[in-house]
Amino acid sequence: MTTFAFSTQSPADVDAGLLILPVFEGGEPGPGVRELGLTDVYAAAKLIGKKGQNLLVPREGFPAGAALLVGVGPKADFDVTALRRALGRTGGTARRFGTVATTFPLALGARRGTEAVQAAAEGLGLGSYRFRRYKTGEDDGAPLDRITILGSARWDAKAAREAVARAEILVDAACWARDLVNTPAGDLPPAEIAKAAQAMAKQAGLTCKIWNESQLAQGGFGGILGVGKGSVNPPRMIELSYQGAGARTTPIALTGKGISFDSGGLSLKDAGGMETMKIDMGGAASILGTMKAIAALKPRINVIAAIPCSENMPSGSAQKPGDVITHRGGTTSEVLNTDAEGRLVLADALAYLVEKEPACIVDTATLTGACMVALGTDVGGAMGTSDELATELIRAGAAAGEPLWQLPLFADYRALIDSKVADIKNIGKRYGGAITAAWFLAEFVGDVPWVHLDIAGPAYTEHGNDLGPAGATGMPVRTLVGFLLARASTGRKR
Ligand code: BES
Ligand code: MN
Ligand code: ZN
Repeated sequence: MTTFAFSTQSPADVDAGLLILPVFEGGEPGPGVRELGLTDVYAAAKLIGKKGQNLLVPREGFPAGAALLVGVGPKADFDVTALRRALGRTGGTARRFGTVATTFPLALGARRGTEAVQAAAEGLGLGSYRFRRYKTGEDDGAPLDRITILGSARWDAKAAREAVARAEILVDAACWARDLVNTPAGDLPPAEIAKAAQAMAKQAGLTCKIWNESQLAQGGFGGILGVGKGSVNPPRMIELSYQGAGARTTPIALTGKGISFDSGGLSLKDAGGMETMKIDMGGAASILGTMKAIAALKPRINVIAAIPCSENMPSGSAQKPGDVITHRGGTTSEVLNTDAEGRLVLADALAYLVEKEPACIVDTATLTGACMVALGTDVGGAMGTSDELATELIRAGAAAGEPLWQLPLFADYRALIDSKVADIKNIGKRYGGAITAAWFLAEFVGDVPWVHLDIAGPAYTEHGNDLGPAGATGMPVRTLVGFLLARASTGRKR
């Protein structure tokens, strides 16, 4: 476990294994560089502060084990997001030193105060994450023992300590979600996801109910069961609730796609298409992470989550193209492509959540390749029935450094999922696939303000990014927590 701390010590007195200091483009030294007498060393290495121009200086007249001078680019472009990402990129180096401290927030000054302190701790925590469960060889350094964020004695120390504590909770939750997503499907079928959720809930103090197969059948969850029919690993639904406000306060509802493995079912994917499909429970994992963080942060809101988990496999018992499913609540859907399975399981969960009369519903899902075509791998799509809610989520995403972009729930496209035999069908035309998928979900949300986040791209990074190594990103845990905290601070009852 990593300890997170805030300190107003001078950088020249800090005895961390590694002290990370910024240098702006043009060679302008950031906080701590002069104090440690390192201005000339950086220049002597012919570095000028461009992004990625880093210099590691072993201990030389200062108590830290080493100093890492990090080129962060133009000072004018340096903001909270750039700060988080620049520190994230140092995570691999930081791991070699065990304990790490940084002056980065001082570069933004009190102007950005607590936000910068939180982002610095997040960057170091997220960037130093590694998934080691299946590695038997030597570790490239161990997880960090301590992350110390240095700030000014003139800042509000209580607020800064709270910011660091918040970051610790967010990093823990996002990295737990990453672990779940990175774990191979063979070791994490629906029942195991449910067990992990149950253990988390117990430890965090959340109410948890696991729906097994026969309970799902009793409850009419035809989508979750239909998708799971082809697998020897039966489906589950995870129901979690957090109560931080009075019983009369309307809850916020969350759901996430929990396909432990998506082979496509009988509409089978090709080999390449399935390589990464253990990540198809990324939406579910992010809701679990969000609930874990909320339980620790204890905002004055109520939150409920219903997370559908199925495994999509082809077999003699699998659902077949042309089959008709009856979802929770009675809506029927024609399954023309068994690879469009995420919407089938989410439909049941959405219908179930609507019964709880929530203030709003947010779902997140690795739902469509079409969304990746539209927005690329790094941006999530937001679609729904409330522009206001979409705007709240997009703002929270921007603050967290998890970019989202709204796509239109264009009215004319609703007709693309009209079915000849059932109420709706589970695929549209080739084009606009992210939007027709959202239209399918919209059928189940009634009048409740709802936004769907398609994270097919950003849930996973093939080559790693600034905030972590290749694999799961934990997106959009920090966005959702930020959104919920903002809701709590406005104190709205509906
Ligand atoms: N899980 C996939 C979407 C996906 C693809 C996520 C690549 C992450 C990376 C989803 O279940 C799926 O297969 N969607 C189909 C829908 C189509 C059959 C209408 C797709 O996008 O091709
Ligand atoms: Mn699929
Ligand atoms: Zn899928």
